[in-house]
This record gives sequence, structure tokens and C-alpha cells, in this order.
Amino acid sequence: MSSGPGQRAKGDWFPLVILTGAGISKESGLDTFRDPDGIWKRHRLEDVATPEGFARNPGLVQAFYNARRRSLLDRAIAPNAAHRAIAELQAARPGDVTLVTQNVDDLHERAGSGEVWHMHGELLRAQCQACGHSWECREDLGEETVCPECGARGRARPDVVWFGEIPRMLDDIYGAVERCRGFAAIGTSGQVYPAAGLVVEAVRAGAHTVELNLEPTDGLGLFGEGIYGPASEVVPSWVAQFLEG
Ligand code: APR
Repeated sequence: MSSGPGQRAKGDWFPLVILTGAGISKESGLDTFRDPDGIWKRHRLEDVATPEGFARNPGLVQAFYNARRRSLLDRAIAPNAAHRAIAELQAARPGDVTLVTQNVDDLHERAGSGEVWHMHGELLRAQCQACGHSWECREDLGEETVCPECGARGRARPDVVWFGEIPRMLDDIYGAVERCRGFAAIGTSGQVYPAAGLVVEAVRAGAHTVELNLEPTDGLGLFGEGIYGPASEVVPSWVAQFLEG
């Protein structure tokens, strides 16, 4: 593990806020968005991840998310050592580790994390555009989907946050960052706001900050230190320092 000049005693990191992005799930078999083989290299985000795109062509958008949902539910997809290390840290420091994720997958939950703040929503949930009801959904969505609450047909959408929509739990997230003494961004390119700006709030709060990523991101200069390598390797070793002794 490499560490920068800002390294502090392990207790000084808590309360800790961890922000994760698609990179943490890459080694589990899920594609990231902006890497060379990323999702946004194959799909136009304006078409499949905006309210306008959905209004123009709901079938295309449903097909995009139906395919991603099926991939997530594929037997080959499982949490990796990075997800598990974070769950272990949460269990070891109850109430001291807030896990915020931009990911819509459920790999943190499958790894054992009890509380996960999904700021960009969840792929395995659907939302009714008629009544707003949200429900767990592991099936394809489409014109035949009926809302279990109000019975509306064909009004379901993936319960995810699209570009132009407001991320979830922002008050809670900013509150946790304002109170934190440590902030870690794991496997995120830092290209999408407001998530990308949380490190600035953490620095303002006086927190120690670290980026863990396959490689330095454009936001590297915002962090006190950086640790680079595959998440399944660097996250467990970074977490280990807090579990020892
Ligand atoms: N280990 C660690 N980091 C990795 C790995 C790995 N094995 N593989 C890739 N990464 C890093 C990449 O270097 C990159 O910095 O993960 C990051 C992935 O960045 P993005 O694809 O931009 O994903 P993310 O930051 O989560 O995107 C934010 O954009 O379109 C959206 O809504 C979507 O929530 C998503 C948001």
C-alpha cells in the first residue's frame, strides 16, 4: 500500500465516508462507463440515460436496462474482495462507515453491507411513473409491466437516476461528509457531479482523503493521497490497516 504525506493514525479516519463507482464492480464482471471498453463507448448516454431519451424511445431504454439487469443477475456475477472488505469494515466499526455508491448494482449488499446509500438508484427496482411507487424487480420491464400498487400498465421505469435528474439522499450524504474525518473514493472517474464534488466538501470539513483507483484520475489533485491498482487488491489492503489490532 502506498500512502502520501497526509497519512494519519487509523482512528483519525472515522467517521469515514466511502464513495464507490463502477470500478469496484469491474472485476466482478460488470462494465464501467468511461473506460475504453465502457458502456458509454457502446451507447449514447443521451439516448439511454436521460428522461428525454426515455420519452423519445422507451423501448430502447427498457431494452438497455433489461440487458443490464439480466447481466447483473447472471450466475457468474458476484461481489469481489473489495466489496467484501468494505462490508467487513462496516461490521467492525458499526455506525462509523457510511457507504455511498453511484452503482446501481447490488454487489455491496451481496457482500454483506447492511446499509448502502444508492445515490443513483438501483437496477433491481422499478418505479411507477403514474403513482411513484417503487418496488423490487428482477424481471424485464416493458409495456406489459403492471404497477403492484396502482395497477397502471406500461408505466414502469427503472428506479435509477438519469442525467438531468436529482440524485438520491443528497441531504444525508452531504451531512455525513460534513461530519466525516475520512473520505475515500473507490473506482470512480470523478466525472459526474454531485458525486465528484464530495471530495471537495470532505476537504472543507478537514477530513483526510484518499482515492483508490486502477490509475490516477483527473481529480487526483483534490485528494490527500492516492492508492493505485485493481480494487480487489488495493481495497482489502487499505481496509486491513483499520482492522489490525
Ligand atoms: N479497480 C479499480 N478501479 C477501476 C478498475 C478496477 N479493477 N477498473 C476500472 N477502474 C476505474 C477506472 O480507472 C475509472 O476511473 O473505475 C473508474 C470508472 O469510471 P466510470 O466508468 O466513469 O464510472 P463512475 O465513476 O462510477 O461513473 C459515474 O456515471 O454514467 C454514469 O450514472 C453512471 O454512476 C455512474 C456515473
